[in-house]
Amino acid sequence: MTTPAAPREPLLRIEALTKNFGGFIALDNINVDIAKGERFGLIGPNGSGKTTLVNCISGALRPNKGNVVFAGADITLLPPNRRSHRGIARSFQIPRPFRSMTVLENLMVALDFAGNRELLETEAHRRDAAMSILSRIGLTTRATVPTAVLTQVELRKMELARALATGPKLLISDEAMAGLSTSEVDEVLDLLMSLGGEDIAIIMIEHIMQAVMRFSQRVMCLDAGRIIAIGAPSEVMANARVQEAYLGT
Ligand SMILES: Nc1ncnc2c1ncn2[C@@H]1O[C@H](COP(=O)(O)OP(=O)(O)OP(=O)(O)O)[C@@H](O)[C@H]1O
Ligand SMILES: [Mg+2]
Repeated sequence: MTTPAAPREPLLRIEALTKNFGGFIALDNINVDIAKGERFGLIGPNGSGKTTLVNCISGALRPNKGNVVFAGADITLLPPNRRSHRGIARSFQIPRPFRSMTVLENLMVALDFAGNRELLETEAHRRDAAMSILSRIGLTTRATVPTAVLTQVELRKMELARALATGPKLLISDEAMAGLSTSEVDEVLDLLMSLGGEDIAIIMIEHIMQAVMRFSQRVMCLDAGRIIAIGAPSEVMANARVQEAYLGT
């Protein structure tokens, strides 16, 4: 036996989480830890509880039982905006920018909402901060165009940029690749992977299995509200229960 590694405080800890909708159990006693900077893939057939789980993490839903602990603090009962201030950001499947504003203006609004008032008290500061995010995301050349003219993949990138404006430690991406071409999926994946390198943990929900395999350090598969497999991507994909769950749908 090797010496055990020093205990490492997880960034996110889900403890005995259960969520019911009426008599229906959508999540049944989920336990999982996510490390700082981890790239974590969340898979499972339709209706298995993936979005319900991220709703419990982001604060859109309150669990019936169990706890959500983030950066050492119990956030189970905090509303979504307070979780966002603590560093949990969510990117939605359908991008919803202000379409008449430019990319840069949209991002400046996002920074304003994020509320980092000391750093961003002047418009010039906000503009610099917004440009720096656009550069991280590869949208600098589109800064001054209205978002209405952006392509699908550019809109997805902008959605990521808006999530980054909140200064997240954890980014949740729920099917951000849907409707993109193979090369566009690769582009967004590369972006997400570079954010992992900046110590932002990412939970990626995705039906495109090749994307999940390429992206994730660990994959967790839900079925009917329970964890049926968790581990290295190749192990999870080879798991008989996982294959059965997918064949069954
Ligand atoms: N607000 C709600 N009220 C009642 N039932 C709900 C509610 N939200 C989700 N459910 C049910 O909980 C189960 C899990 O739904 P969830 O949206 O978490 O699945 P999912 O894994 O994200 O599926 P998909 O891959 O289709 O996005 C489903 O049976 C769904 O119908
Ligand atoms: Mg879902």
